[in-house]
Amino acid sequence: MMDCTFGGGGHAKEILKKMAVPGRLIALDRDMEAINRGLELVAEYPNLKVLHRNFTELKEVAVEEGVFGRVNGILADLGTSMFQLKNPGRGFSFSTDGPLDMRMDTSTGPTAADILNTYPEEELLRVFRDYGEERYARRIAREVVARRKGTPYKNTLVFAHQVEDIYGGRRGRIHPATRCFQALRIAVNEELESLPRFLESALEVLAEGGRLVVISFHSLEDRIVKNFFRDKAQNCICPPSQARCTCGGNNAQVHVLTRKVIRPSQWEVERNPASRSSRLRAAEKLRVPS
Ligand SMILES: C[S@@+](CC[C@H](N)C(=O)[O-])C[C@H]1O[C@@H](n2cnc3c(N)ncnc32)[C@H](O)[C@@H]1O
Repeated sequence: MMDCTFGGGGHAKEILKKMAVPGRLIALDRDMEAINRGLELVAEYPNLKVLHRNFTELKEVAVEEGVFGRVNGILADLGTSMFQLKNPGRGFSFSTDGPLDMRMDTSTGPTAADILNTYPEEELLRVFRDYGEERYARRIAREVVARRKGTPYKNTLVFAHQVEDIYGGRRGRIHPATRCFQALRIAVNEELESLPRFLESALEVLAEGGRLVVISFHSLEDRIVKNFFRDKAQNCICPPSQARCTCGGNNAQVHVLTRKVIRPSQWEVERNPASRSSRLRAAEKLRVPS
C-alpha cells in the first residue's frame, strides 16, 4: 500500500492496524515535519517506510522500492494538514500572524510572499480568479501591485486585512480572505499541476485489482479526479466526431467504485468539522494496458 499524503499519519495508522505482515505501507509527504512524525511511528510499525517525496514522483519511488505494478492500494488525502494550518510559522492561516510562506516543502520553491511581491498583475489576477474563484480578483490583484511598491509583503495578516478591507469588512462565517489564501496555496505548491501527474502515475503503479482512493477539499481538485476516473473508465476512446468505433471498444483501465462522490456524514462533520468539504472518489484498476 502507499499513502501519498502522510500528514499527521491518521490514515496511515488505521491502514497499518489492519495490515498483516508481510504487507508494507510506503508513506510519502513533501513536508519534512510530517516525515519526522512518520519516522517516530516506524519503531511501532516496522512495515512502515516514510519518504520525503512529492507524490508527483510516485513512479520513481515505486521503482526504487521494487513495488512498481504491484501496489494494492494508493491513497491521496489532498490539501493541508491540521499541523500545517495550525502552525502560524507556516503561513497558511489568515487568522494568526506569521510569514507569508505556505510552502508544504520548505526546502524549495517560491513562497506566497514571493508571488505577491513579484507576479505581474495579470498573473495575480489569474491566480485569484482561477484558483480561488475570487469575485474581486481583478481589484485585489491591482491593489497588491500598488501596495507592494511601498512595502513588500512579508506577513499573513497584512494581506488578510487588505482583502477584508476590499470586501468592506467581515460578514458571515467565512473570512473574506479564505479564497485568496486558498489560491495562493495552490499556486505556491503547484497543486493543480501535480494532481494529474500523480493520477496517471498511480494507475501505472497499481497492481491489477488495486484501488486508488483520492480525497479532495475543493471543487477544482475534485473535478480533475472525477474527469480522470471518467476518462479511464471509457471503453471506447475514439474521438467523439468519429461515427464508427475503431479502437476495439475495450480500453477501460478502471472501474469506478464511487458512482456518486462520497461526502462526510453529519455525524462525521460534527466530530471533525475539517471534514466538511471533503469528497472521496475511488476506482479499481482493471488490467495492465499492453
Ligand atoms: C490533508 S493532509 C493528510 C492528512 C493525513 N491523511 C492524516 O490522516 O493525517 C495532506 C498532506 O499531504 C501533503 N501533500 C500535499 N501535496 C503533496 C504532494 N504533492 N506530495 C506529497 N505530499 C503532499 C501535505 O504536506 C500534507 O501533509
